[in-house]
Amino acid sequence: VVARRADHLKATAIMNESPKLFEFEGTMMTQIFTNNWQRVKNFKARPDDILIATYPKAGTTWVSEIVDQLYFGGMEGRNPNIPIYERVPFLEICAEGFQPGTEAVENLPTSPRLIKTHLPVQLVPKSFWEQNCRVLYVARNAKDNLLSYYHFDRMNKLHPEAGPWDKYIQKFNSGQLVFGSWYDHVQGWWNRRESYPRMLYLFYEDMKEDLTREISHLCSFLGLSPSEKEKERVTQKTKFEAMKNNSMTNYSTVEIMDQSISPFMRKGTVGDWKNHFTVAQNEAFDEEYNKRMEKSTLAFRMEI
Ligand code: A3P
Repeated sequence: VVARRADHLKATAIMNESPKLFEFEGTMMTQIFTNNWQRVKNFKARPDDILIATYPKAGTTWVSEIVDQLYFGGMEGRNPNIPIYERVPFLEICAEGFQPGTEAVENLPTSPRLIKTHLPVQLVPKSFWEQNCRVLYVARNAKDNLLSYYHFDRMNKLHPEAGPWDKYIQKFNSGQLVFGSWYDHVQGWWNRRESYPRMLYLFYEDMKEDLTREISHLCSFLGLSPSEKEKERVTQKTKFEAMKNNSMTNYSTVEIMDQSISPFMRKGTVGDWKNHFTVAQNEAFDEEYNKRMEKSTLAFRMEI
């Protein structure tokens, strides 16, 4: 009994140990995203695969649910009780207790396969480009994205601890978070879009402004023509409250998140950063942001 208790304590200690960040191919990562690198790098995409790419907390789950609903939500006989992370596997994840993402994708029973990634554009397996796969990228305004990531890192045991808010802002600006710099991520993907027409670059704020309009936009890109009734069904199913109350989208089925600290479906709004940044933090952030984004053709609405 004592030995078992010791083992249990050891396991708990490992679980409680904050994962270490390190530089991997020029981007900050933790081990669970590099463990399986050879298989990720050599992943064989199929031409009809759909890659859903984001910087963490930009609306990955939201777009994943929309696209999954568009393709499979109305399908006769489909099991409605499959969590989103199984329907849209996370390509690069390889953590204890989870099926490696590459394997989960290979075992998907449906096509097209919907695949999630947080990789910066230069690390995406080349097969996706060679196969000319459709790619969806979602970007979110920097301050809301940062705030959402902060709360996520507080509750997610697979990520390094968030630490104090003030320091977290600095970590965001210096790219010291899992999947590296937000600036490099959103701009890297934006620049690729210019030479890769099979990419749709979406904004979280546009989806908040008019979800039905953005769903129609997505449908044209995907070559789908659902009825108005079907579009309305998907709109209702993917509103924040609906997804928050749905155990298949709110991550309540995973143990690695302590949702008593912060729920996965936290607020789902635009401009919540205003409730968290002090005036001084906001000014310092704007200065850094303007410097970094000055030359970018990517315009983000910061003051929303
Ligand atoms: P907040 O923390 O600001 O609430 P990701 O899926 O990339 O991890 O992003 C999670 C963020 O998207 C969270 O933001 C979450 O609440 C928000 N989100 C998820 N589904 C949403 C929806 N249907 N409508 C609006 N926001 C949503």
